[in-house]
Amino acid sequence: MEMIEFEHPVARDFVTRLRRKEASPARFRAYANRLAYLLAVEATRDLSTAPAEVETPLETTLGEVLVDHPVIVPILRAGLGLLEAFQDLLPDSQVAFIGISRDEATAKPVWHYSSVPDVVGKKVIVLDPMLATGGTAASVLEYLFEKKASEVVLVSVVAAPEGIARLEVFENLTVITVCVDRELDASWYIRPGLGDFGDRLYSNNT
Ligand code: URA
Repeated sequence: MEMIEFEHPVARDFVTRLRRKEASPARFRAYANRLAYLLAVEATRDLSTAPAEVETPLETTLGEVLVDHPVIVPILRAGLGLLEAFQDLLPDSQVAFIGISRDEATAKPVWHYSSVPDVVGKKVIVLDPMLATGGTAASVLEYLFEKKASEVVLVSVVAAPEGIARLEVFENLTVITVCVDRELDASWYIRPGLGDFGDRLYSNNT
């Protein structure tokens, strides 16, 4: 596993905006979306291109086109907050959905839904904004590598040291995060964190 802590001042500013408890769901969604564009740039840095002729209004020249179209997998619900930006930058990518919730008593992942196309030999970008215990992420990664994905980039916003440690066993995995926070608390929330990312996106519970 390769770990990238995304050192970008604008990204850090946006995470601070996301942390603020006063941020309404509308503001939270807007900041998450803007941050996701920055993360999408970082997550797509190593994609391959091929030369392609292009006619400008003045002459023919050689450009480049993407030959990699990674499958994008937002983990429901929270991953939806990052999806639009990734789809905007990768308009030819397929989007697959995996719905997992965390059993609040055990913190173990519970699968509710999955709709994933053939990923054999493909690159996959997983959107999982809060890397807490790493249980959900590990379960998704096991599934994708069993389906023979060639490599996975896991995009998070905030990560706990415990979650990062949990994913170290995976090969062909890059984890991107903006902030590595202090710890998990007794309820497996990331501290200082920003609360429940899904609730912050879609309801007024926090
Ligand atoms: N998921 C969240 O949304 N927040 C946390 O702090 C941990 C897991």
